This record gives sequence, C-alpha cells and structure tokens, in this order.
Amino acid sequence: MPSPTERSLVLVKPDAVRRGLLGEVLARFERKGLVIEALEMRTMDAALADQHYADHVEKPFYPPLKQFMTSGPLVAVVLSGDEVIDVVRSMIGATDGRKAAAGTIRGDFALSNRENLVHASDSPESAKRELALWFPDLAL
Ligand code: CMP
Repeated sequence: MPSPTERSLVLVKPDAVRRGLLGEVLARFERKGLVIEALEMRTMDAALADQHYADHVEKPFYPPLKQFMTSGPLVAVVLSGDEVIDVVRSMIGATDGRKAAAGTIRGDFALSNRENLVHASDSPESAKRELALWFPDLAL
C-alpha cells in the first residue's frame, strides 16, 4: 500500500488578508504543485489562539501575537503534496521577515517577526494536531 500523501495546516494570517496578499500566497503554493484540499476564512478567537499556539502561551511574545492573530479574518488551508510540510516551510522562509531569504513569502513581503504573513505546521506531529484543531471533520 502506498503511504498517503502528507498534509500541512497553513494559516494565511490577518496581515496577509488585510494587505491583499491572499491570492499571491495561495498562487505560490498552487504553482509549486501543492493541492489545496480545504480552505476556510474565519477569525480566530482567544480560545482557539491558546490551543493553536499551546507551545507559545508562556512566552513573552505571546500576548501581542494573540492580539494580532485575533485581529481580523485569516484563511486556514489544508495543503497536500509530497513532503508538503518541509516544502511549505522552505517556501515561507525564516520566522523573522527581516531575515527570511528573498524568494520566500516572508522574505519577499514581510518586515516583522510577528506579522509574518503565514503559519505552517513544522512537523508531522504538529500537522496532525493542528489539522484536527482547524478541520475536525476532515478525514485524516
Ligand atoms: P508562526 O509560524 O505562526 O509560529 C509562532 C509565531 O509567533 C510566529 O509565526 C510569529 O508570528 C510569532 N513569533 C515567533 N517569535 C517571535 C518573536 N520573537 N517576537 C514576536 N513574535 C514572534
């Protein structure tokens, strides 16, 4: 039996939506050959922020991150493809947009380490957890 195609949970963050970069970001993933399996625009509430960023809630940068992530609509996306988790992480670039390489999404469009346009699962374990949180009805 072939192994099922890998999936990643991507959030196109409120700054990207506000700046009209949703199409640009999604187009890059599509052009790469990744598949958009599900997509939903919604506004994160405080409880979902605490669950999604469970690893970060105690960090000093978390309160302003939570404020930012709940500040307006974002787009949650399920992407699939061969090694999609690593592929997407390399396409979005380093967390800090000022340091992210040119050619990456953050490197091309972000100047902040908080308002950095895109979140993507960083491991199969976090993908599983995040996909269950954002798309509980999706058969995994
Ligand atoms: P993300 O990939 O969504 O994962 C955690 C988020 O926290 C990260 O992107 C940034 O938006 C934010 N973040 C990480 N490190 C810092 C930092 N040092 N200062 C501010 N925000 C940060």
